[in-house]
Amino acid sequence: MGAGVFLLPLAAACGNGDDSGDGGGDGLVVGFAQVGAESAWRTANSESVQAAAEADDRIAELKFVDAQQDQEKQIEAVRNFITQQVDVIVLAPVVETGWTDVLQEAADAGIPVVLADRGIEAADEDLYVTRLGSDFAEEGRKAGQWTVDTFAADPDGVTRILELQGTTGSAPANDRKAGFFEVLDGEGLAYELVDSQSGNFTAEEGKAVMETFITTHGLEGIDLLYAHNDEMGLGAIQAIEEAGYAPGTDIQIIIVDGSKAGFQAGVDGKLNYIVECNPVFGEQLMDVVVAVSEGDEVEKFTPVEEGVFDASQFEAELPNRQF
Ligand code: AHR
Repeated sequence: MGAGVFLLPLAAACGNGDDSGDGGGDGLVVGFAQVGAESAWRTANSESVQAAAEADDRIAELKFVDAQQDQEKQIEAVRNFITQQVDVIVLAPVVETGWTDVLQEAADAGIPVVLADRGIEAADEDLYVTRLGSDFAEEGRKAGQWTVDTFAADPDGVTRILELQGTTGSAPANDRKAGFFEVLDGEGLAYELVDSQSGNFTAEEGKAVMETFITTHGLEGIDLLYAHNDEMGLGAIQAIEEAGYAPGTDIQIIIVDGSKAGFQAGVDGKLNYIVECNPVFGEQLMDVVVAVSEGDEVEKFTPVEEGVFDASQFEAELPNRQF
């Protein structure tokens, strides 16, 4: 068994067949503790997983819980899934830490856990079977590479950056930041991080933080806003316009996700670069859930495919967006 491949212990691999949970009949009963509904990305992800489960004869029932971006609610949902003896638990962890106890309880109950979308701290990696989702650090590196390519020849020498981080302690916030600055530092870009705060992946908080940035620093001489998702970027665009500036021109903007609304803002010239984060992996997730329930060997991490888009591509790509 190679590195990154996890062979499920027999007790867990047996699953509960058709006689567990409330599903009845043939097929697996799966519990899914989703982060919330904070973004178009999240809504698309929930719909993709629910539609895939519904269409899949191998799945008897998907028990879906929206945890409203609250870790305590997610932990409670996982505990309920354990009590209900579901066959597989799917968890999209809102933050990276604080999962040891509840995941140990799932392991003790012989219920395999699949992480969807976000990851958890390395210390707990024996407590889940596999993760299917984005390589967030790579997304950050892509944003960083565009920044270097765009600003390395900046005549004033120093690229001044504002950063809107995602939910504090979440894998995408941690990794998108790390990947971004890894490239800037590695490529020797002269930059100043003027300010960096969390907008919690929502438009409202992204807008509020951007208003604070503008009040505190102004926008003169700021080169770039790096927003960790579409919603925060779109909220920030509103704040920038309300302050009398032209987003995409007076300040360049990178967003991560690639929703229809994000691409439309790009077509309108209000932002400059989109790093795709792909939420539509429901069918792939069902394959992973079934494989895990049968004790098949699976990779520890399977990244979903994602691209990048600059201004020359926004208009052609917009009709292709699924969320
Ligand atoms: O974990 C994926 C991130 O979560 C998406 O980028 C964001 O929009 C969502 O809230």
